[in-house]
Parts: sequence; structure tokens; C-alpha cells
Amino acid sequence: MSSKTLLPLMLILGICFADDVSNKLFPDDFMFGTATAAYQVEGAWNEDGKGENIWDNYTHAHPDLVADHTNGDVACDSYHKYKEDVALLKDLGVQHYRLSISWSRVAPTGQASLVNQPGLTYYRNLLQELRDNNIEPMVTLYHWDLPQALQDQGGWLNDSIVDRFGDYARLAFDIFGDNVQYWFTFNEPKQTCLLGYEYGAMAPGIKEPGISSYKCVHNVLRAHAKAWHIYDEEFRATQNGKLGIVIDSNWFEPGSDSEEDQTAAETKRQFVFGWFANAIFNGDYPEVMKTRIAERSAKEGFSASRLPEFTDEEIAYIKGTHDFLGVNFYTSSLVNATSEPAIDTPSWDKDGGVLEYVSPDWPSSASSWLKVTPWGIRKQLNWVSQTYGSPDIVITENGVSEDGSSLNDTIRVDYYRDYLSNLRDAIDDGVKVFGYTAWSLMDNFEWMQGYSEKFGLYSVDFTDPDRPRTPKASVEYFKKIISTRCLVD
Ligand code: NOJ
Repeated sequence: MSSKTLLPLMLILGICFADDVSNKLFPDDFMFGTATAAYQVEGAWNEDGKGENIWDNYTHAHPDLVADHTNGDVACDSYHKYKEDVALLKDLGVQHYRLSISWSRVAPTGQASLVNQPGLTYYRNLLQELRDNNIEPMVTLYHWDLPQALQDQGGWLNDSIVDRFGDYARLAFDIFGDNVQYWFTFNEPKQTCLLGYEYGAMAPGIKEPGISSYKCVHNVLRAHAKAWHIYDEEFRATQNGKLGIVIDSNWFEPGSDSEEDQTAAETKRQFVFGWFANAIFNGDYPEVMKTRIAERSAKEGFSASRLPEFTDEEIAYIKGTHDFLGVNFYTSSLVNATSEPAIDTPSWDKDGGVLEYVSPDWPSSASSWLKVTPWGIRKQLNWVSQTYGSPDIVITENGVSEDGSSLNDTIRVDYYRDYLSNLRDAIDDGVKVFGYTAWSLMDNFEWMQGYSEKFGLYSVDFTDPDRPRTPKASVEYFKKIISTRCLVD
């Protein structure tokens, strides 16, 4: 009997016929999908009227800063190969595909009044192709690729960007909304602001410790709220979709049972996740951030806190701007309390004032920051659920990197199995997680690591102008989970 024939029976019985490690069945309406992002896969960086964005600019100006001196000029060439990509998704059997819109492809200077028709056509075609294949699009408006023209005016540090983003969001809802039920405003805004404006480790490469990342987040949160209200007031009645944000999360595990370390771990969670989630759910930054940053600012001789304040009106406007929540989850860290951070600690980390490290026992991946900690996803999901009133959650990214030396990616098969197993336990714990998105459909431009770290289910040959895609072993495995809705070895 095929797994398709067995499925109804398994669902009635609430079991699946796999071995004991993985004997876990996913709910019938649970959504499985994969994700990519525009700059990482599309290529066609200057074709058909697309404007320059900060990643085009940064990688062209500083090729030496990318590990393998590459860029996203061609990437996976998905701009030309989107039908092939959708065919891969269809073959995988996914329920959804998470993609992002390149702002400078649809509005080259960032001004929504000056649209680029071929850019609009590209996304309309892609969304239609997904619909025609019964694949639900989940669309991110901003996955790190700001139009360069807006960066030239200060980017996320210029308050006028809030209105520019609102106009862009309205354009996207208007043109694409009939085909989109799940919208995300920002992907991992912490990375946009911390790596882009404080550490200078990603485009636009600004290093202004202690002030710029806070200012950047302030405008990102205002822009998020603006987009949510525009959707709510102008589009919800006719389009009936949902809008949220994607927040990146490590699980922060206390380094010991001491009360100090427990508190330190919670502080870190608030600095990383609460920075955004507390604002969206409760209207403002977490208390611990407000207190700590005010104290440190005073110590450093600032007349006011380096953390900007929302007005009462803004708090009311930002509070509740979520229909659901996207959570990216990859890894965990251990946290100890520390009173005196090392002198060279970056400012945001000093403000947080804790010591973060990983266990040497945790298995590694090809990415220095990514240790394999499957138990962390269950803890993170429970924490998010308990802290923010049990929202509807979708895991918008989860995955692992390897170096591409073999198509037999057992590291990824094991990773998916173990993380999904913990996610399934979180559902039993009562967490309302309704979907899982594997990062990524295919190997792609991994930002400062170029093409050296591979996260794909499909391998892409970046030396071949046709960019052929080849399935890795994890494709068969993921397919099986999706078709049986059951974790299988
Ligand atoms: C999160 C980011 O959203 C994505 O762009 C990136 O490739 C993955 N993490 C892996 O680092």
C-alpha cells in the first residue's frame, strides 16, 4: 500500500508507521515549505530596469570582503529560471514557498511612484506559477536589499524611510495581494541593523557602535507598523490575508542553574527577540533593554539613553501589529552572567552584558555560528508562545550548511529529522506552530560567505552558466516527510 493510501488511516489512528525514533505524525493542515530570498537567488542584478541595491553596491565595491570574492549578480539565475524552481517545489510536494521581493526591481529608486513594469511582471508571473501549481506563496517585503538610492539618503537612519517603506508595501499589496495570503514585512531585522549599521559586517557596512543599530531598529519597527496598518485599513477586507514579521532567534540556555545565569539568559533573549517582539506585541522595547541601555549611556557620559523612545502615540500604533509570527531558528548558545564585559566587546553586546558561548560537544556545520542543537527549537517555541500570549507561529527558516563536497548530505537529513522531531513535540506542548520552512530550496549566495556555505536541498553548479540544479539526498528525505506527514529515517 502506498503512503498516500495509508495517510487517511494514519491520520484517523494518529500514528505513523515509522521506526520508534521518528514515530511522529504531523497534523493534516501543517504546512511544509522551503524558502529563498531575492538577492540570494535571482541574479539579473541590472536587467530589465532593476535599480541598484545595497548588496549590488557593497559586493561590487568590496569584493575582498566576501569570502570567495563573489556576488549575487547571477546567483542561481532564478529571474530566468523561476518556472524550473517552481517545478522543483512541485516535485518536493511542498504546501508553501517563502520568497522575497526585491524592492529595487519593482521600484528602482525606492520611490513607489516610479515603478519598473518588467519587475512587477516578474513577480506576478512567479506568484501565478506558484498558484497554478497549488503552492501557497509566503512573501517577504524586505530581505536586506535596500535600494541604493535610499541608502544614499541615510537608509534606515533617515526617518523618511518609514513613509517610503509604507508606499512600497502599499504598491506590493495592490499589485500582488490577490495572490498572497501570507505577508512578512522584514526578515531578521536584527541582522539588518546590527550587522549593517553597528558591526559594519554586512551591507551597507556602517560601523557606529551603540547608536545606529538602535536608531535603525526604531525606524524598522515604525515601518513595520505602518505596513501593517496600511494592510489592515486598505486591503484586509478584500484580500483577507495575514501580515507578520520574521524574527531570528537563537535559543539562549543558561550556562548553569544559578539564578544569575538564568536571568542572564532571559536578558539575552530579550535583547535578541524581545527587541522586536515586545514592540510588536506590547508596543515598546523590553524593560530590561530600556534600563540597561539607559544605565550604560549615563555611565558613558550621554545626556540621554542611546535607545530611542517611542511616543505614547507610537506605542499605541505599534502594539498589536501582528496577525501571526515568523520565527527563523538555527542554533543555540549558552549564557553566563558577567559584570565586566571584555574591553573589545561590541557596544550592543556590552549593553546586554552577558557572556555567550557554545559547548564544544555540539556538532558543527560549515557555518561558524551554526551548531546543531535540535532541542533548542522546542525550547524556543515554548518560550515565544509563553512570552507573547500563544501566537500563531510559522518556522520561516531552519536548515544547516555543508561545504558542497558531496550530494549525500547526511548532515542535513539528520538535522531536519531531529529539529522536526522537536518541533513536533512543541506542538504537543501546546505551541501553535502551523508550518515549517526549510532553508533553503537550493544553494545560493550566502551573504559574506559567498557560495562557500551551502544550505540547499538542491545543489547548484555556479561554474555552469545554466546554473543546473541537482537534488541532494535530503530532497528524497524531505519529500517523504511531506508526502507521509510522518518523520521517517
Ligand atoms: C538567515 C537569513 O534570512 C538567510 O538569508 C540566510 O541565508 C540564512 N539565515 C543562513 O545564514
